[in-house]
Amino acid sequence: MYKYVHGGDVYSQNGNFIDFSANVNALGMPKAVKDAIRAAANSCSAYPDPFCRELTAKLAEHWQLAAGNILPGNGAADLLFKLALALRPKNTLLLAPTFADYEKAFATAGSKFSYYILKPEHDFAVQEDILKQIVPGIDLVVICNPNNPTGQLTSKKIILDIVKKAQEVGAKLLVDECFMEFVSEQEAYSLKNYLTEYKNLIILRAFTKTFAMAGVRLGYLLTSNVGIIDACRENSQDWSVSTLAQAAGIAALEQKKYLERTKIYVEEERSNLLAVLSKLGIKTFASKANYIFLFVPQIKKFPDKLKAKGFLVRKCENYVSLNANFVRIAVRTKTQNRKLIKAIKEIIANEVTVNHN
Ligand SMILES: Cc1ncc(COP(=O)(O)O)c(C=O)c1O
Repeated sequence: MYKYVHGGDVYSQNGNFIDFSANVNALGMPKAVKDAIRAAANSCSAYPDPFCRELTAKLAEHWQLAAGNILPGNGAADLLFKLALALRPKNTLLLAPTFADYEKAFATAGSKFSYYILKPEHDFAVQEDILKQIVPGIDLVVICNPNNPTGQLTSKKIILDIVKKAQEVGAKLLVDECFMEFVSEQEAYSLKNYLTEYKNLIILRAFTKTFAMAGVRLGYLLTSNVGIIDACRENSQDWSVSTLAQAAGIAALEQKKYLERTKIYVEEERSNLLAVLSKLGIKTFASKANYIFLFVPQIKKFPDKLKAKGFLVRKCENYVSLNANFVRIAVRTKTQNRKLIKAIKEIIANEVTVNHN
């Protein structure tokens, strides 16, 4: 039977939970975006613009790219499935652990997979030795930067070596930068300025997480290889981006202050959480995104114990190379984060009591 493996499944729960399992912006959807969605409801009797012309023009201005280098989709996940049909990779190299939908999407086109195993001793960061796995026969490499669920960034030096090696062996490189807007030094990590130089490079971005509009669904891909964009269009429906999502995206792109506030907020709140969790003896890894990756072998069934206290967190046992001791938590609002820490303290105190009895 089909199993849903992602966070954010608040619908199958009985009762009220604080959701730390999905990584959307804790500042919430900007008011201007909500207003734009309400106003756009008036135009919803007509089909949406299949080419998302106004949104794409705004994105082109934002990224200093030609409109033809941009393809919006129904969330970043939709674009993965479009890419699967457009690229039809036979052999895909993935990080492990990483976001589950790369495998789900590219398997629909019959791809086989090899994995670059990220190691705890390197804080789960990609090392230069990944290049040895980019060999003839690999036609697609996917790097999630920062990676989900680890929050780790791949350095620009390594990622540029990857794109060059991929080009040499005739492979495409897909860099998923859906969480890049949460990174304070994103200029130092994003590959956006290399799109014209490398025709084998595709960057994936999402409004869903950045602007807390996961329910609206909006993502886009960037590439100077217009053949890829055409192939995506040939292989999918024309109306995947609703009128509401297009209006939301246009309004979101004006929200420059919100993005600045987001970066400051995430950095401050993430370091507070990391400090408290380490004090509590919980192993954390150096996340640069709006979520934190934890290793908690000392508390059995830690996610279930948190659930009993009203908190949903992301169990990580279904990721390739992880087990039930790994957990991912989002950086939420200050009040919610405080409540979570209080619950974790209570669980730890209870473990100590149980172990002493
Ligand atoms: C790394 C990564 N990329 C893409 C997605 C899909 O994002 P969207 O909600 O825009 O489809 C997710 C969702 O969790 C993700 O974690």
